[in-house]
Amino acid sequence: IMSQLQDSFGRKFHYLRMSVTDVCNFKCSYCLPDGYHPDGKPKFLSLNEIENLVSAFGQVGTQKIRITGGEPTLRKDFTDIIRVVADNPHIKNIATTTNGYRLEKHAQEWFDAGLRRINVSVDSLDPKMFYQITGENKFDEVMRGIDAALTAGFERVKINAVLLKGLNDKDLPRFLHWIKNTPIDLRFIELMETGLGREYFEAHHLAGADIKAQLLADGWHLDTPSADDGPAQNFSRSDYKGRIGLIMPYANNFCASCNRLRVSAKGKLHLCLFTESGVDLRDLLQHSSQQAELIERLHGQLAQKKETHYLHQGITGVTQHLASIGG
Ligand code: GTP
Ligand code: 5AD
Ligand code: SF4
Repeated sequence: IMSQLQDSFGRKFHYLRMSVTDVCNFKCSYCLPDGYHPDGKPKFLSLNEIENLVSAFGQVGTQKIRITGGEPTLRKDFTDIIRVVADNPHIKNIATTTNGYRLEKHAQEWFDAGLRRINVSVDSLDPKMFYQITGENKFDEVMRGIDAALTAGFERVKINAVLLKGLNDKDLPRFLHWIKNTPIDLRFIELMETGLGREYFEAHHLAGADIKAQLLADGWHLDTPSADDGPAQNFSRSDYKGRIGLIMPYANNFCASCNRLRVSAKGKLHLCLFTESGVDLRDLLQHSSQQAELIERLHGQLAQKKETHYLHQGITGVTQHLASIGG
């Protein structure tokens, strides 16, 4: 293996979040409130470019790839993408994050192609609130999709809910009831301010710390993080089959455990969700003879990764919404 990707703060990066499309068919009010509208005809990474990308990252220590979007499953060749990633001998762990829209129909097919972990966004267990937040009346379909994923044998199904004041903040009891007998990892994500503007953020931001206090008072205990864990704090209770994770990007030290890099659907490397606009890799994804040069560029970029996202300082501007960078 060529030398492992590492930054100047000693953090190692085994995990790549690879976006394959900006397109989404939902209109989540915190992400794409007006839906997806392209400027011109976008050209997302081809299967061949994806193969070259995965190959280079595999050589510098990447073991886990999460296929993201937009909504990644809208790619007609999504199953082929899974196969390309699964065929790389360095990648041990293939995951995706989806709105669940196509899950019911395709969970088994994706599993058979090599996908092993699935995260599904479910912002509310109240169908009306689900519609209000996502702009789509697809609650029942998504829930059937989650069942299909559990049946297909996925190692771990995680559910993402963005915490939203005035919208889903009454839902905690329902969520708890759900995971009592369902073996899923439910994660509450603190709303992050994006370039979409301050207004939404100020109206709906809810501190994850409040939920943490509630859980601790209610018999949940904080699990010790393992070395490879991402930034979520995880909680469990012996009488619950499911677990709870809290992602609190505004909390102290959130970035200290950062273990992931991102590549956008147009082939730009992002060292962080926020703070920079991305460095183009696409010119070096055209042919397998360019791998050494690509790897050199990756190392050069890693040396410049900053210590934190600086969200606390109001830096959000370059990231319009997380659909353009894969969350
Ligand atoms: P696993 O740990 O592999 O399950 O995945 P994950 O939590 O990284 O995956 P997922 O795509 O479900 O992430 C959920 C959301 O958490 C992301 O879309 C982001 O909104 C947020 N998030 C994840 N990683 C980071 C990060 O490094 N920084 C920030 N600020 N937010 C993150
Ligand atoms: N803040 C927090 N989470 C967000 N997501 C999208 N936009 C935001 C935001 N502004 C989450 C979605 C999904 C994941 C891919 O990113 O809920 O679960
Ligand atoms: Fe689509 Fe995900 Fe953004 Fe919702 S959060 S609009 S499902 S990309």
